[in-house]
Amino acid sequence: MAEDGKSQIYSPQSGGYSNVKQEQYSQYLSKLNADFIDSWNENSESNAHESDFDRIKILGTGAFGVVVLVRHIISQKYYAMKMLEKAKIVKLRQIEHSFYEKKILCGLNFPFVVYMKFFFKDNVYLYFVLPFIAGGEMFAHLRKMGKFEETSAKFYGSQVILALEYLHSCDLVYRDLKPENIMIDRTGYIKITDFGFCKLIRGRTWTLCGTPEYLAPEIIMCKGYGMCVDWWSLGILLFEMSAGHPPFYATDPMRIYEKIISGKYRCPSHFSAELRDLIGHVLQIDITRRYGNLKNGVLDFKNHKWMKDIDWDGILSGRILPPFIPKIRYPGDTANFEDFGDEKFKQSSRCINEVEFADF
Ligand SMILES: Nc1ncnc2c1ncn2[C@@H]1O[C@H](COP(=O)(O)OP(=O)(O)O)[C@@H](O)[C@H]1O
Ligand SMILES: [Mg+2]
Repeated sequence: MAEDGKSQIYSPQSGGYSNVKQEQYSQYLSKLNADFIDSWNENSESNAHESDFDRIKILGTGAFGVVVLVRHIISQKYYAMKMLEKAKIVKLRQIEHSFYEKKILCGLNFPFVVYMKFFFKDNVYLYFVLPFIAGGEMFAHLRKMGKFEETSAKFYGSQVILALEYLHSCDLVYRDLKPENIMIDRTGYIKITDFGFCKLIRGRTWTLCGTPEYLAPEIIMCKGYGMCVDWWSLGILLFEMSAGHPPFYATDPMRIYEKIISGKYRCPSHFSAELRDLIGHVLQIDITRRYGNLKNGVLDFKNHKWMKDIDWDGILSGRILPPFIPKIRYPGDTANFEDFGDEKFKQSSRCINEVEFADF
């Protein structure tokens, strides 16, 4: 046991995750699923206003807007506020995705994903106010360190597996797994952010979206696809965390797609045999052979030999010692984020795209 009562990732006595345990865990997930569906059917009302927050610093930027560190004036608490510009959403034909992002964030409740604290809109933007995850992107830490030790990759990977299992049990396909969307919180555990491509599906969907290096072959080949695109991207993530680069890599996206469809990749020589074996089972072009999509479902991960020592309950309840704890000197410290400078926020006296976002 470590000083703070947390134990090491390895729990030699765990002896695998039994069917009975999985059965019990599925009941817990069914309860979370019922809560999610209640929230989905509820249609929450906007619960804050732009003037309730002081804007402090830009934390990140994307295709449709920016994420800003803000301070809620009344409570003095810090949050990450994602601002999406309505005109850009309409131009890039992402209206439906922005509604999904809002409704999904409102219903999420799991230790390894963010959730919606407040939301509202004004004449120019839609606003999602989320807990501020101060440790920064996994991406930044991974690039700084070059690659992670396999024990660290396992620690993060196990949380991603539990998060995907939770999302899938709510009929949500995530579709944008990558180190840029995985935040490290102050305890050293992860929180997945960015639900911009997440969607509630029963059956299949067809939209081409995601990030080139992480796209499953069935998305590239414009086939209908389902939840198992997320398991493919988990395979890419496990590889990238442990190697420092993704398995299918090129400067030109078309070349990346060719490589993905060929299914051929090379593991660095330092990969353990167990990690190679697991990645081999996940990066399967044939979805009837892909881990996560077989008859044992997520148990194939929970019982794989690379993960056999993981104490899954310990991970879920945060009892396992993380590989590192980010340096956060004070609440609202942005040292773990890149500097994006200032952004000119738009204002308008007229409500832009009022009709399209009337129900937001
Ligand atoms: N809750 C959060 N706490 C801290 N930073 C965040 C949070 N959510 C997002 N960010 C930062 O903002 C970036 C962009 O946010 P994201 O939701 O991924 O938008 P996009 O859809 O544009 O990729 C993230 O990669 C991360 O650096
Ligand atoms: Mg993102």
